[in-house]
Amino acid sequence: MKILAIESSCDETAAAVVEDGRRVLSNVIASQVKEHIIYGGVVPEIASRLHAQAISGVVKKALDDASVTIADIDAVAVTYAPGLIGALLVGVNFAKGLAFSAGKPLIPVHHLRSHIAANYITSPGLEPPFLCLVVSGGHSHIVTVNGYTDLTVIGKTRDDAAGECMDKSARAMGLDYPGGVNLDRISAEGNPAAYKLPRPRVDGSKYDFSFSGLKTAVVNIIHNAAQKGEDVSIPDLGASCIDAVTKCLVDNTVEAALEYGYKKIALAGGVSANSVLRRKMTEVCAENGWELYMPEKNLCGDNAAMVGAQGYYEFLSGNTADETLNAYATMPIDNPSK
Ligand code: KG4
Ligand code: ZN
Repeated sequence: MKILAIESSCDETAAAVVEDGRRVLSNVIASQVKEHIIYGGVVPEIASRLHAQAISGVVKKALDDASVTIADIDAVAVTYAPGLIGALLVGVNFAKGLAFSAGKPLIPVHHLRSHIAANYITSPGLEPPFLCLVVSGGHSHIVTVNGYTDLTVIGKTRDDAAGECMDKSARAMGLDYPGGVNLDRISAEGNPAAYKLPRPRVDGSKYDFSFSGLKTAVVNIIHNAAQKGEDVSIPDLGASCIDAVTKCLVDNTVEAALEYGYKKIALAGGVSANSVLRRKMTEVCAENGWELYMPEKNLCGDNAAMVGAQGYYEFLSGNTADETLNAYATMPIDNPSK
């Protein structure tokens, strides 16, 4: 089954053709990073306009690269939630128009579910059940993937997401958007023990995260140093920040794996590209004899191949939409509605 998938939840306009959920026939991404860089983050209004401008060409290229036409496509999958509402609406409306004019089924796909599905492409042998740490710019979840469309959230952030914490810390350090990526790069030579940062635990819910205090601590170090006329080593502060964030992520995931008895662990979302997170998870999984699955780096960030992968399993479980499909800025991963 060939699925044409469309993604426009944030600042990447993407389209892909994916066969049977695992085989990527094409994967096209038009990034808007250059347009948002001067603002230090994504400007939603600009994102929507750029999606509207790019989407037809991106979808055409995805079909061309896969050497297919719309007639060869069995269904159209689209990210419909969560994300920037104006951005999502561009993809949803385009997908609806295309699906209904071509007489193809329309499959609504939850953005975080698709991040998890990036692992099905990278690791063709991976099947549920497994435990997944989903870490993106807007979300930090620990999820049990009981089946392809049956998920349970067992931990999540109470405030900032891991990616948001790194992005805002990076911005305070004077690094360009996208902060997390630049923080990872600049921190490679830094000393992670140079600055003492909090590793917050959430009372009463041991798998939940809280990153806003950590971000504030980074900002305070920078402001205090500026007031005293002292220098801050950005590589050292960046490495300390990444160390603190990844320690929270890894510790909670390990505890959840032990308590729930999972021996298969996956990472997903933009932050799963982080080199320290990948290294630490590789180490703890090797120590415990667990299998670790990580999307290859070019599938960690937003792309449409992962939407095509998850779309296939949503279709198999009967999850299609009609012409009333809407987009939603928020939507739970474990019990999404249309
Ligand atoms: O999943 P994603 O591409 O978009 C959302 O769904 O939010 O995640 C974007 C997030 C951003 O916060 C970005 O800074 C972060 O992923 N990110 C990284 C790295 N690459 C992307 N954070 C840390 N280290 C990286 N290498
Ligand atoms: Zn994402």
